[in-house]
Amino acid sequence: MSTQAIGIFDSGVGGTSIWKELNLLLPHENTIYLADSKHAPYGEKTKEEIITLSKKNIDLLLSKGCKLIVVACNTATTNAIKVLRDTYSVPIIGIEPAIKPAALQTKTKTIGILATKGTLSSELFHRTTDLFTSHIKVIEQVGVGLVSLIESGEINSEEMKALLKIYLKPMVDANIDYLVLGCTHYPYLIPQLLELLPKHIKIIDSGKAVAVQTKAVLEQHHLLNPSLKKPKLQFYSNGSLEVLISLIGETYHVEYLNF
Ligand code: DGL
Repeated sequence: MSTQAIGIFDSGVGGTSIWKELNLLLPHENTIYLADSKHAPYGEKTKEEIITLSKKNIDLLLSKGCKLIVVACNTATTNAIKVLRDTYSVPIIGIEPAIKPAALQTKTKTIGILATKGTLSSELFHRTTDLFTSHIKVIEQVGVGLVSLIESGEINSEEMKALLKIYLKPMVDANIDYLVLGCTHYPYLIPQLLELLPKHIKIIDSGKAVAVQTKAVLEQHHLLNPSLKKPKLQFYSNGSLEVLISLIGETYHVEYLNF
């Protein structure tokens, strides 16, 4: 079992930002990544729809023999993780916005969070925010349109810049010193965000933490791959392969799959 792949899925290409952290920390692990671009954005869907889509992705990854699942999507995690863990016996790692570290480190007592509607309206997100942010102000912003622009390869477009300007303004005006990226697509916007934000504002996401947690869970279940051979890194998408390749490079196995 330990030589089997880690299965990773997202509502599209965004979760590759998590895959990169996983591959960096666990370079000998085989991985299978599913980009469910056809159904993006998940952030605009109901909880029930998100659960159904997440199960479809996990069923496919399990049919390919995956030993552990990483839900590389904040929206799917915050809406579905409990049901998924109750349904499947393999370990399942999720990702949530890094509210806690931002809340602990803020000096201005004000942080910003950019995430999808699905994440910001979820019970799990509310529970986490209630737990860690009672002493500070949290400026929440739904990133309407950002995931769709990234999915259509328009990361560097004028439209993207215009939307980001609108979304950041209330946060900057409120004097945030931390911006939490609560969607796995958004790390691809860091160059634009750095250009638009005042220098003292720090950007944080949960990518590294997910990789560290995945390693710990693999160790705990004796599932770390003992092989030191070059791993098999596979990517499947039901959307644009071109956009996916533009984010991960051309060296990997990328295949179209209708799921
Ligand atoms: N990458 C997903 C997330 O982390 C994007 C959700 C969406 O498709 O709207 O939330």
